[in-house]
Amino acid sequence: MGKISILLLVSSFFFLTFSSTCAIAKGHNEEKSWSEAFCPYKETTTELHFYLQDVLEGPNATVWEVVKSPISNSATSFGQIRVFDDLITQTPDPNSTKLGRAQGLITSADLDVSAYNMNINFVFTAGRYKGSTLTILGRNPINNVDRELSVVGGTGIFRMARGYAISNTHSYNVSTNYGILEYTIYVVYTNVPKVNNIEMVMDA
Ligand SMILES: *[C@@H]1O[C@H](CO)[C@@H](O)[C@H](O)[C@H]1NC(C)=O
Ligand SMILES: *[C@@H]1O[C@H](CO)[C@@H](O)[C@H](O)[C@H]1NC(C)=O
Ligand SMILES: *[C@@H]1O[C@H](CO)[C@@H](O)[C@H](O)[C@H]1NC(C)=O
Repeated sequence: MGKISILLLVSSFFFLTFSSTCAIAKGHNEEKSWSEAFCPYKETTTELHFYLQDVLEGPNATVWEVVKSPISNSATSFGQIRVFDDLITQTPDPNSTKLGRAQGLITSADLDVSAYNMNINFVFTAGRYKGSTLTILGRNPINNVDRELSVVGGTGIFRMARGYAISNTHSYNVSTNYGILEYTIYVVYTNVPKVNNIEMVMDA
């Protein structure tokens, strides 16, 4: 009885020691090494806030239809697929600081109301998240004021990200078909060190 308890205590001690000094090996086996060495890296919570410049027509449009709705009289354009590459800016002003691009697909996926199935990769090219991406996959009922979409992952700084985004239409000019969309993102991510240039030693 006592021996088993001590054994358990000793093995959990080694397990904890190992996990707190876990490591990532470099080289071609890095995926395998990474999963073997998975350990409780620190989580960080952040709120991001920015705007998307959504240009729906003209030569410099950033949203383009690639598949028409197969249903000619669909009020919700069911089945339509559009691809977009919107500029991300710090404020609603299109001339404000450029933070990156929001790229993805908009699929009209609701027969009754205007709601999209959206995939967005936010590609940050400036600021503290430069070089990192954040990915959204979610339902966007476009006529609602605040739409909640889920954050399902990320790269770079945002490895292991999860969270949610609140999206709303800041403004929409019907004559120019120019929309400015506001995004507030609440995200938790895990600061897994960069694998490509990491060189750590298993010292447990
Ligand atoms: C489209 O973009 C080009 C290059 O930036 C610019 O010269 C042109 O004025 C733009 N056209 C419109 C209609 O905004
Ligand atoms: C952005 O800057 C361009 C060039 O300076 C200017 O022509 C345009 O009016 C500006 N747009 C806004 C919304 O301020
Ligand atoms: C829409 O854009 C046009 C052309 O730039 C502009 O004259 C008009 O004032 C804009 N409308 C609104 C509501 O901002």
